[in-house]
Amino acid sequence: MKQLIDQIQAHLAEVEAFQSNDPTEIENFRIKFLGKKGILTGLFASFKEVPNDQKKAFGQQLNALKIAATNKLEESKKSSGAKSSNPPSTIDFSRPGQPIDVGSLHPISILRNQVIDIFSQLGFSLSSGPEIEDDWHNFTALNLPEHHPARDMQDTFFVQTNPDMLLRTHTSSVQVRHMEANSPPIRTLSPGRVFRNEDISARSHCVFHQVEGLYIDKNVSFADLKQTLLYFTKSLFGKSKIRLRPSYFPFTEPSAEVDIYWGLETEADYRITKGTGWLEIMGCGMVDPNVLTNCKIDPKIYSGYAFGMGLERMAMLLYGIEDIRMFYENDIRFLQQFSAMG
Ligand code: DAH
Repeated sequence: MKQLIDQIQAHLAEVEAFQSNDPTEIENFRIKFLGKKGILTGLFASFKEVPNDQKKAFGQQLNALKIAATNKLEESKKSSGAKSSNPPSTIDFSRPGQPIDVGSLHPISILRNQVIDIFSQLGFSLSSGPEIEDDWHNFTALNLPEHHPARDMQDTFFVQTNPDMLLRTHTSSVQVRHMEANSPPIRTLSPGRVFRNEDISARSHCVFHQVEGLYIDKNVSFADLKQTLLYFTKSLFGKSKIRLRPSYFPFTEPSAEVDIYWGLETEADYRITKGTGWLEIMGCGMVDPNVLTNCKIDPKIYSGYAFGMGLERMAMLLYGIEDIRMFYENDIRFLQQFSAMG
């Protein structure tokens, strides 16, 4: 015990004698006496070895040393003029945080993912192509040669500096690219953004989204197409009645438009189906042999079907959205309504 007290006295003398303006020396002093593995920690640890009747005296000595060391440290720091490298924090960590808004999927993305899920169950892979497309992939290869009147069905944005380039008017261009790069059997789905030089209104926009489907193999028939579309409409809309109306697309022969029976249960049903109960949701048909030939696929061996649908139109039906422009305005109140879905 005597020994310990002597040690403390010696340390106290050293502390009192310490004098320095040098920040490194001051820091060394701190580490030596007050650091985690410093002298004071060591002495406090030996407290338990001190006989009970002497604990009080020992404790007092020890505290005196601690106070002396702490004071000396503060004093030395002040006189050295050293500014602490970590100024005292002004942040109040006890305050509640600012809530961070978490984003969610856009309704068009939600629907696109649902469509992809349904067709992937039927073995369709995903494919994509460029939004800035050349004339061949968007028109000519799809049986729409230059001056073909059907080109007017899709008002086109052309690239001013290069008349051969345009913003794709439909995702059918991806069909061509996919057939050029792959040989049958082909089963692919191509979702993407398309552009048309149209006036913007509640029902139409110059930018929108389509999903294209293509299936090429031996002996693919119109019946296969109809069954596939029936499966799709049942899965997505929960409606089990469809009809295929004869139509015209240059890249399919025969061509059809697909209507689903929406029903006439509510006033809104009457409005959106114009009182018929039927709604058109996509175009489809058997791939024209000319298109297969253009893509180096032999139409004598292979046949196939294709279809194309507009996502905005379907999303408007599914979610009861009256104005297509809502999709592009990024009004947070509109988008938040879909946050639980994706
Ligand atoms: N490309 C057509 C459009 O944008 C939609 C379409 C119709 C795609 C028939 C097809 C199809 O693949 O077979 O209006």
